[in-house]
Amino acid sequence: MNETFDVLLGHRSIRRYTDEPVPDEVVRAAVEAGRWASTSSLVQAYCAILVRDPDTLAQLSRIAGDQSKVRRAGAFLVICADTRRHRLAAREAGTPYETRLEGFLVAAIDAALFAQNTCVAFESLGYGICYVGGLRNDLPAVDRVLEIPDGIYPLFGLCVGRPAEAPEARPRLPLDAVLFDERYPSDEAMLELLAAHDEEVAAIRERQGRTPGTWSARVAVQLSRPTRTDLAAYYTAKGADLG
Ligand SMILES: Cc1cc2nc3c(=O)[nH]c(=O)nc-3n(C[C@H](O)[C@H](O)[C@H](O)COP(=O)(O)O)c2cc1C
Repeated sequence: MNETFDVLLGHRSIRRYTDEPVPDEVVRAAVEAGRWASTSSLVQAYCAILVRDPDTLAQLSRIAGDQSKVRRAGAFLVICADTRRHRLAAREAGTPYETRLEGFLVAAIDAALFAQNTCVAFESLGYGICYVGGLRNDLPAVDRVLEIPDGIYPLFGLCVGRPAEAPEARPRLPLDAVLFDERYPSDEAMLELLAAHDEEVAAIRERQGRTPGTWSARVAVQLSRPTRTDLAAYYTAKGADLG
């Protein structure tokens, strides 16, 4: 349709990179684009910590579940929700800082929008990206490694690099399962859409010679037990009021 669509529809998470580093100028240009993302009431509740130090990257890679791409990427960013500046502004103004869960959500949403626009900017320049939620395996450890101040909530990492692989697209749910006319559909209608998607996924996996599986079965297994159960305690300790 146009170049923007080409970039968006061409997205694949890239997990292997060439040795080419991502220069600071490129990181700055992509983050410059990212910070023009929409932001709730202009609060701009996000920041990115660019990590270049090999020891720090090795530690973060380990925390993320031994994801070697964290060390091998041409650049690695830690994306955080940033409420610290708001606290500073409130302190200077002599007003209370009262936000509750709304404040946390606003910051997390702002940071995700900022990150995704930054990713699209990188991709438009021919770089590949991969988010790294694995950092949330152990946020207190991330905190110690990066000496993160209160009011800053690390959310996920971001690997960037010149692609050294060209993975197949991972199929998405059909458009009709995510875009609705006027009202959310019935469960029966949704289950039919999911069944069609499951068939498609099963056929693709068979063609790829992978173990049989469907989207529904994978999601069901994945969500059958709680994971990362210490997040509320960690974010609360960093100053979030999740009530
Ligand atoms: C917030 C977030 C965290 C993610 N964390 C990881 C991760 O820790 N490791 C990884 O290899 N991929 C991670 N991914 C990438 C997803 O697995 C990937 O986007 C999804 O499987 C769809 O594939 P695609 O991006 O190639 O279309 C993450 C994606 C998001 C949005």
